[in-house]
Amino acid sequence: MTIVSTIAIDGPAASGKSTVGELLARRLGYLYFDTGVMYRAVTWAALDRGTPIEDEAGVAALAGELHIDVAPPTSDDGRQYTVLADGVDITWEIRTPAVNASVSPISAYPGVRREMVRQQRRVAQGGRVVMVGRDIGTVVLPDADLKIYLDASVEERARRRWAEERARGESSDYGAVLASMRRRDEIDSSREASPLRAAEDAVVLDTTALDIDGVMAEVVRLIEECKCPGD
Ligand code: DC
Repeated sequence: MTIVSTIAIDGPAASGKSTVGELLARRLGYLYFDTGVMYRAVTWAALDRGTPIEDEAGVAALAGELHIDVAPPTSDDGRQYTVLADGVDITWEIRTPAVNASVSPISAYPGVRREMVRQQRRVAQGGRVVMVGRDIGTVVLPDADLKIYLDASVEERARRRWAEERARGESSDYGAVLASMRRRDEIDSSREASPLRAAEDAVVLDTTALDIDGVMAEVVRLIEECKCPGD
């Protein structure tokens, strides 16, 4: 039986990737790594330093210089992990509407992606990792032991994101969240560099009608049955 050591989870925003990834990693005792955080950190740094979002070369240079660390949570405020950029805690700053609005164009830059992928492969080198993103099964870890692609309707994903923002006490408008999610889906799946899509050997799970327990039951079944690439 193949040992499932490297697990890739991809899918669009709010498809359940980070919740499932974290629960699964905890259950297996593996490292949980959410790669979206890295694109968000670069976006935050560009906004913070005044590097124009359209300045592809400038943003790519920033991606190469920025020291991004993802560490266990340092505060009990609902965070899954602590994100540091050059030592500064930016865990919540990377979730602001300003970052949401600029992260898709920035993550479409090939120079930015090259740098992020290089760092992500290094993190996954030792195995025992659940890596979550958009291109993990297709580009970052094409030899992952198990590839899962989570999907859900855009309306359901916008509803989840809206509920999360409300739960954090933010005043959130469902229509605006839906419009922003449609825009990001469009950019993420139509970009030339590593567009969002399921790897050919990924197991696609539609989570529209499933709660988190339902999704986890499916994922655990996949691991137990070991529906792994190459089997
Ligand atoms: O998963 P998220 O919403 O935090 O991702 C933020 C953005 O980063 C999203 O617009 C797509 C991009 N992203 C990517 O292009 N590749 C990844 N592996 C992860 C995220």
